[in-house]
Amino acid sequence: MKKFQVNGLMGLSSIYVGESLSNVKEYLPDTEPVIITDSNIRDLYQDRFPKGPVITIGTGEKIKTLHTVEFILRELIHLGCDRSSFILGIGGGIVCDIAGFAASVFLRGVRFGFVSTSLLSQVDASVGGKNGVNLDSFKNMVGVFNQPEFVICDMDMLASLPKSEISNGLAEIVKHCLISDPDMLSFMEQNRQRALDLDPDVISRLVADSVDIKSRVVQRDEKEADERKKLNLGHTIGHAIEKIDQKGHGRAVALGMKAAALFSMDRGYISRADVDRIVDLLEGLNLPTDLDHDADQIIRAAARDKKKQGSDLFFVFLEALGKARVEKIAYEEMNRFIRSIFK
Ligand code: GLY
Repeated sequence: MKKFQVNGLMGLSSIYVGESLSNVKEYLPDTEPVIITDSNIRDLYQDRFPKGPVITIGTGEKIKTLHTVEFILRELIHLGCDRSSFILGIGGGIVCDIAGFAASVFLRGVRFGFVSTSLLSQVDASVGGKNGVNLDSFKNMVGVFNQPEFVICDMDMLASLPKSEISNGLAEIVKHCLISDPDMLSFMEQNRQRALDLDPDVISRLVADSVDIKSRVVQRDEKEADERKKLNLGHTIGHAIEKIDQKGHGRAVALGMKAAALFSMDRGYISRADVDRIVDLLEGLNLPTDLDHDADQIIRAAARDKKKQGSDLFFVFLEALGKARVEKIAYEEMNRFIRSIFK
């Protein structure tokens, strides 16, 4: 097991890669936690949950709403919860985002922790203290920065994920390699099939290295004033694609990363060979790379991105494989580029 820490503004968060759901009681206070989970995870793992009342929510991005948060808050009141209550989110990114938000606003904030069950949430969503929900078509528009006391990344739980979900999570791991670790990129290139097959040595190293990269970035810039923006590589265009084509976050981010790589090449930062290397890796991980979406639809969806600042936005470019740079550019410049690479 490996332990990583983020000493956040609201407290210390410890992330345990390779720990087991069965040991979660060691990290909990003496009182029973209130567990928030989804129906899939409850059906698969309920017999390994610690003792405590369970609030079950539905699955999919559509339930990441204030309505679901209200439902949870009413359940917490109904259960007689108070400031001493502890909330344990057991699930993927959606459960953790919602559980962390509900815990942060219930009675102005109660203690919380996560058991992170999907690859995507282990390497991204449950680490770093971003909690929140969507509002209408605006992704993650309402939320708080607040660190969970602990995050348990149980590698054994990944085995129950569909293959497409493994690829979705691997997309975020590629992102971490691209923004800061060329050696990890080479390791991924050499081990793509073993990663897809969840080979224990390969997947543990990739999750641990990703959590290490992300927790260091968050430690330096918790509230995304500066360096944390690099974690949005591929996300401006990726989120837009996700809005118009619900094929999964990682798949949309893969397309966004290819677009960002081409944009970086267009600016002379990286070479065609670098772009080809990225595309080759993404395809080897069963991620899409065909930029066949409608350019105007992407532009309309991207215009509603919350990272927009007036007529400008922060775009994450690659300066090299393993090095990102954030630049404020005009929306119109990105739109011109989108028109030149999409249909
Ligand atoms: N997923 C990007 C971040 O946590 O900042």
